[in-house]
Amino acid sequence: MGCLKLGVLFSGRGTNLQAILDACQDSSFPAEIALAISNKPDAPGLVRAQKANVPSSVINHKDFADRPSFEQAMNARLDEAGVELICLAGFMRLLTPTFVNHWNGRAINIHPSLLPAYPGLNTHARAINDGARFAGCTVHFLSAEMDAGPIIAQAATPISASDTPDSLAARVLEAEYEIYQRAIRWVAEGRITLHEGRVMIDGAGDDASFYLPTVNSAV
Ligand code: GRF
Repeated sequence: MGCLKLGVLFSGRGTNLQAILDACQDSSFPAEIALAISNKPDAPGLVRAQKANVPSSVINHKDFADRPSFEQAMNARLDEAGVELICLAGFMRLLTPTFVNHWNGRAINIHPSLLPAYPGLNTHARAINDGARFAGCTVHFLSAEMDAGPIIAQAATPISASDTPDSLAARVLEAEYEIYQRAIRWVAEGRITLHEGRVMIDGAGDDASFYLPTVNSAV
């Protein structure tokens, strides 16, 4: 099986990038990072890509007059690197519908909530403040509306009375790493199809695309 070429877009510390880099170390993983792009020149994730000997680029949005020209610069680099699937991993810029449509079905995102609950920022603080009993994360296809595309995989974790946004974030992050690599594997293996806006995973059991770390961590 060929190796799917990934383009990882990030803006910050890059622990999801690291998890993907680590997954790619396994020779049986059907994807590789062809290019990692940060829109911030000081993003710690850049060091992670360099340490792993993965090509990386800084495309600083501040160097461009508007979003379309910033995105055109990203597209030029992504095309040059032969990227087949974009993985957003803490990429903190809104993308225009033109960019999203260009990558339709070929771009995925990880978001730290159980979508459609809590799109946007500060998801864990909002869930705690609401008294929600579960938090989690979602891998989904990109769509023009933010944090709203078809869901590929989710993980859930209970919220305890003593949780803070930080303690919850730490627990959810561990689950993010797990479901992101599962989702990338399914895309790479060509097992994902869309039926009426819902994602089906060919050959996977019903429980493959949800993950409850304390319940079925061995799945
Ligand atoms: C993660 O929580 C991810 O879900 C969200 O941004 C955060 C990025 O963290 N989209 P990191 O840079 O991967 O450590």
